[in-house]
Amino acid sequence: MAVKNLHAPPEALLSRLAPERQAILAQAASLAEAHAARLWLVGGVVRDLLCQAPPGRDVDLAVEGDAPALASDLAARIGGRLRAVHAAFGTASVEVQTADGATLILDLASSRVERYPSPGALPEVAPAPIEDDLYRRDFSVNALAIELRAVDGQLRAGRLLDPFGGRADLVTGRLRLLHEKSLRDDPTRMLRGVRLAARLALRPDPAAAAQIQAALEAGYLSLVSHERVLTELCLSLEEPRPDETLRLADAWGLTSQVIPGLAWSEALAARCERLLLAPGGAPAGGPLVWAGLLLYDLDAEGLAAIAARYPLPTEATDLLRQLPGLHAVAPLLTPGLPNSGVDRLLRPFSVTALTVLHYAEPAAAATTSRYLRELRTMRAPLNGNDLRRLGIAPGPLLGQTLEALRAATLDGEVKSREEAEAWVRRHAPGTPGS
Ligand code: CTP
Repeated sequence: MAVKNLHAPPEALLSRLAPERQAILAQAASLAEAHAARLWLVGGVVRDLLCQAPPGRDVDLAVEGDAPALASDLAARIGGRLRAVHAAFGTASVEVQTADGATLILDLASSRVERYPSPGALPEVAPAPIEDDLYRRDFSVNALAIELRAVDGQLRAGRLLDPFGGRADLVTGRLRLLHEKSLRDDPTRMLRGVRLAARLALRPDPAAAAQIQAALEAGYLSLVSHERVLTELCLSLEEPRPDETLRLADAWGLTSQVIPGLAWSEALAARCERLLLAPGGAPAGGPLVWAGLLLYDLDAEGLAAIAARYPLPTEATDLLRQLPGLHAVAPLLTPGLPNSGVDRLLRPFSVTALTVLHYAEPAAAATTSRYLRELRTMRAPLNGNDLRRLGIAPGPLLGQTLEALRAATLDGEVKSREEAEAWVRRHAPGTPGS
């Protein structure tokens, strides 16, 4: 995603924001003026305006002044909700519903400098002018700011700050760190960097490449909590191309420190490509499906190690537990297998796991797709109450009859209530007529 016009004036950049966002930011700017504070649109949102990338859910604002006080007034003015107020850190967020029903989050932070007491530790902060605030950031392409003003209630741009040549780096595709201690201060920036590089087709410049190498050799990532690493991994799975992020992470030497045993491979690339090229109506992807496709080749031990290391949500642990089983069923899904046999093999798996199987095993794709589309939710024409009415007492036999009736339905032997009742009379001992 290249920057089309490096010299687009800040006013033109702001006009790329949706009108509703412009109106909210105009309110924020006029309140900032009343607070005698200066307000800046900062970071990723400015980068995305330059790249004409789709807008994110969050808008980052730096305040040369009291950010929590401004956030509180802004929430009241626009009917938003004030949350995550940290007076000591000078940060607060305002959450507001937009007309399309989406939630917009405005993150306000008083501009600051940060000092990292030790590698990977959380920073100590002190108020500082915007120029210093930009210097504490991760990459040149994120160290960008546009001053926001309001004139007659309309949003206006003041200066655009680009002290480290971020715009030029977006044009040439360079990922550049701002100072030599950046990754020591915050090793998660390696994971942020690889995500950004995959998204915007950036390459680390020689200094960043050397710093990444040194940080990996020093083992800085192991100083970061597993929760923080997991947050970054989850964000990568929400990107349009998580496979590209993994390919780059491998090339940078990052993967083995984050998910030992995982490696980029041609087979992995091929299954990701099948998901990327899937036609409309094919089983849908999503972060968990991506996770399953990327981790598909890991053995049960490697998957258990991931579940032990990271505080995963239940759906993710369930998926990791199911992945080895997919390898076992794939060769059994032979073309002549009746529907009831397919059902017996695939029923233990979640929809997510089955979607992973669909893209991971092309030889079984027709079967998994039919199972997901039709068979999985197919019901027999009769339920347990019907069977009781036909004279089957509650108990194991009723359960077995229901199962067998469903299998007969899946295999097309039973198509209506009448046929089902006749089937039950033929098959269940003790029913009138059996
Ligand atoms: N930032 C940083 N170091 C970090 C995290 C964030 O310097 N470890 C700065 C960057 O300037 C970044 C801004 O804070 O642009 C906002 O962070 P965040 O919202 O996490 O990222 P975005 O750049 O907005 O990225 P994305 O598009 O992925 O949301």
